[in-house]
Amino acid sequence: MHYAMDGYDLLDGKTGIIFGALNEESIAWSVAEACDREGADFVLSNAPVARRLGSLDALADKTDSDVIWADATDDEALAELFAEVKEAHGAIDFIVHSIGMGVNVRKDVPYEDLNYNWYEQTLDISAVSLHRIVRHALDADAIADGGSILAMSYIGAQRIFSKYSEMGDAKALLESIVRSFGYRLGEHDIRINAISQSPTKTTAGSGIDGFNAMYEFAERVAPLGNADADSCADYAVTLLSDLTRMVTMQTLYHDGGFSNMGISDEIVEAMADSLAEEENPS
Ligand SMILES: NC(=O)c1ccc[n+]([C@@H]2O[C@H](COP(=O)([O-])OP(=O)(O)OC[C@H]3O[C@@H](n4cnc5c(N)ncnc54)[C@H](O)[C@@H]3O)[C@@H](O)[C@H]2O)c1
Repeated sequence: MHYAMDGYDLLDGKTGIIFGALNEESIAWSVAEACDREGADFVLSNAPVARRLGSLDALADKTDSDVIWADATDDEALAELFAEVKEAHGAIDFIVHSIGMGVNVRKDVPYEDLNYNWYEQTLDISAVSLHRIVRHALDADAIADGGSILAMSYIGAQRIFSKYSEMGDAKALLESIVRSFGYRLGEHDIRINAISQSPTKTTAGSGIDGFNAMYEFAERVAPLGNADADSCADYAVTLLSDLTRMVTMQTLYHDGGFSNMGISDEIVEAMADSLAEEENPS
């Protein structure tokens, strides 16, 4: 594939903030590298606990960025973060929300038995945090007119992927917040969208029971196969650039075509083999 190693200067002169890069596998890590390649200057943020668990400081060095540690469920921390961002960079052009965590999913609690405190934490971290971030950015007058906000979703928001459990509810709320805020941000010429991304091998992804099966199923169903984090980052760049200035309130599928498929020959043949094996065990 022909690819300009230096990028296309799509974000030349733009400033932003990227939430959620934990390690090299993180989707936000790839997004930060792609934004850097395209000429953007940005701040990186993650929860204070991620300092111990991940390697964000290395990404900050590599992209010549500052890090502001903030828990995205903590209003005070977010208010301070956006005051600091505004002071250092003025109003910024983009925000990337790449944050998620399913507490019951992590602890293997089935959907029927959800622990509601954990469920609230899941919704707070994975969805309400987008509302908080946009709200505090607006309060600090920290988003420039014409700015772009982007969140990461998964098709489990719209259809049932059994093992995705409570995270399906969190992503449905996230996508709804994208629409609700999209309406209200229009008057400032600010747009907001969600990318609905393929299963991707990251820390959050592999925390889901059955992730490998979901990954392989999508890989065999999608005509282009699963989209990886780097290709997601390239798509993200287009949504942060002026080229998509009239796109808002959308859930945009970045999944190699998976969302428009039913079944593929590969799955039909695998099912046929498995049924034959059931009927005539060797
Ligand atoms: N991996 C997949 O298969 C997949 C598919 C579609 C969408 N997504 C979404 O992409 C986004 C990024 O996830 P990822 O797969 O790159 O995994 P990841 O684990 O690398 O990223 C998740 C991030 O959320 C951060 N986070 C958790 N709690 C936080 C808090 N309270 N405050 C601030 N940050 C917090 C983590 O520190 C981490 O950096 C998530 O929204 C995820 O749901 C992932």
